[in-house]
Amino acid sequence: MIAIGSDHGGFALKQEVKAYLEKNGLEYKDFGCYDETSCDYPEIGRMVAHAVADGSCEKGIVICGTGIGISIAANKVKGIRAALCTDCFTAQATREHNDANILALGGRVVGPGLALKIVDTFLNTPFSGEERHMRRIEKIEE
Ligand code: RB5
Repeated sequence: MIAIGSDHGGFALKQEVKAYLEKNGLEYKDFGCYDETSCDYPEIGRMVAHAVADGSCEKGIVICGTGIGISIAANKVKGIRAALCTDCFTAQATREHNDANILALGGRVVGPGLALKIVDTFLNTPFSGEERHMRRIEKIEE
């Protein structure tokens, strides 16, 4: 199960990402928002982050206008490693090196074509499991 959420600035891109998930048979839970009415990204980021941190969802995708505010909010929750990605290289690297569990996107930054490639890369790249990366992640947790 993938937790997904956006504010109004990420709403349009979230619709595209949800369509991608459906097309690929991936289940998701949408934590809002549900239209383009102005809302506060910290509330959405917190809900998605808690769903990932408590294990009810394996990964999360959060989207606001830039991806910055909602990633900052998600990263306040213990156990969350939210990565803001604007390209496929960083999406791959953050899975392999950081075992990132939430992908953050900027709905006003990346177009839907690139965003879906980033989502695909993020969801399909495993953590490397290499000792040095595990050690660094443990240090983040500490
Ligand atoms: C909302 O206007 C905008 O500030 C928000 O979507 C996001 O970009 C914040 O980081």
